[in-house]
Amino acid sequence: MSDSVSIGTLPPLGEVPPKMLAQVVRQDRLGEPQDAFRVEEIDTPQIGPGEVLVAVMAAGINFNNVWAARGIPIDVIAVRQKAGDPRDYHVGGSDASGIVYAVGDGVENVAVGDEVVIHHGYWDPADPWVLSGKDPMIAPSARIWGYETNNGSFGQFAVAQAHQCMPKADHLTWEEAAAPTLVGTTAYRMLHGWKGNEVGEDDVVLVWGGSGGVGCQAIQIAKVAGATPIAVVSSPDKGEYCVGLGAAGWIDRTEFDHWGIPPHWTDGAGQKAWTAAARDFGKRIWEILGERRNPTIVVEHPGEATIPTSIFVCEAGGMVVICAGTTGYSAMVDLRYHWVRQKRLQGSHGTNDPQAYAYNELVRAGQIDPCLGRLLTFEEIGQAHQDMDAGRLGLGNAAALVGAPGPGLGGKAG
Ligand SMILES: NC(=O)c1ccc[n+]([C@@H]2O[C@H](COP(=O)([O-])OP(=O)(O)OC[C@H]3O[C@@H](n4cnc5c(N)ncnc54)[C@H](OP(=O)(O)O)[C@@H]3O)[C@@H](O)[C@H]2O)c1
Repeated sequence: MSDSVSIGTLPPLGEVPPKMLAQVVRQDRLGEPQDAFRVEEIDTPQIGPGEVLVAVMAAGINFNNVWAARGIPIDVIAVRQKAGDPRDYHVGGSDASGIVYAVGDGVENVAVGDEVVIHHGYWDPADPWVLSGKDPMIAPSARIWGYETNNGSFGQFAVAQAHQCMPKADHLTWEEAAAPTLVGTTAYRMLHGWKGNEVGEDDVVLVWGGSGGVGCQAIQIAKVAGATPIAVVSSPDKGEYCVGLGAAGWIDRTEFDHWGIPPHWTDGAGQKAWTAAARDFGKRIWEILGERRNPTIVVEHPGEATIPTSIFVCEAGGMVVICAGTTGYSAMVDLRYHWVRQKRLQGSHGTNDPQAYAYNELVRAGQIDPCLGRLLTFEEIGQAHQDMDAGRLGLGNAAALVGAPGPGLGGKAG
């Protein structure tokens, strides 16, 4: 007889089985996500002081565990082992909705039975940087939960720090609630977290990948702040999806071919051609707005392919804020435009508590749609990451059912 319960079921509240089922990545199968993930029965993780054990009802799918499955740019298991963690497996998953089953010493903000979602900002509370009151997401101990840490949401029980737990929106199903928190809180920090360039009603916000995870949340967060979001997409159906979320219009990036590192500044003819193409791209923004206004914030994540264009079209004093380099890391910055027009290229990563809580309140108030697209089974988690890597996962965010007995449950009607 198995020591774990079946997927789609829960043990009685507060009773934790010794084993659990999890989608496990191991070092001897790092590579294609469809092969790297495998369902295994493993020990249910233990919690320590300040930690919470959550029975996962649904898990959101994010790009970070594509990287974990491939072991690129880092082998997360090796990195943890080097730091003294003996575990030879990775259970990822940075988005969860679930029910609290146990709390560690000192936990006061949640109790057994609470319905929660989990944000992905994780740090050592004893880190001197954190204790000094500075932004903990910049601390040396800051980690992305369920990517750099183990026992994320791709197992029946996840371990989180208590401060990561936030109340689940009552009106959302388990799968809707599990879908947006990582990308949403990331987008919130990008748009609200950088003093001097916080989004406001005078801003035009250009959002790359508007129909993707970060993009669909960034459009809505900008709109709620009164700004004018404009999406960049690769097809008309994606563009119209973004308009439905509040974008003023969209640009089809497939109509342009000036991507990647521009010709060197000593190549006059090459520079002229590149600048003309970037200008044409910028003109599309003016056409959408009906006036000559440039984006004051550009939400970036493709990186190498798009950074030169992002910086080119960004308004003087504006900010290109970047949370990834999906197309590559060697982005080129033409310093002439950068310093003379006093633009800002700002890295942004994860979330801190106030940013996550503020975002979650927007979700709870129904002001942000989680944009659940594909709904998956627990067994499909590996293939879902494969599809995400290939750009085939569909519009918005995706989630997999774990403990929830079926779709459509957990909301007001469920
Ligand atoms: N640092 C953090 O805390 C953090 C948090 C969340 C996500 N991320 C990272 O952010 C990135 C995006 O995540 P996501 O969840 O939004 O992924 P996603 O749902 O797959 O969306 C990515 C979007 O990028 C666009 N895209 C793909 N190739 C492109 C190219 N060559 N040029 C321009 N756009 C391109 C696609 O839209 P079109 O094809 O329609 O253009 C796609 O919708 C990932 O690398 C992820 O790991 C980082």
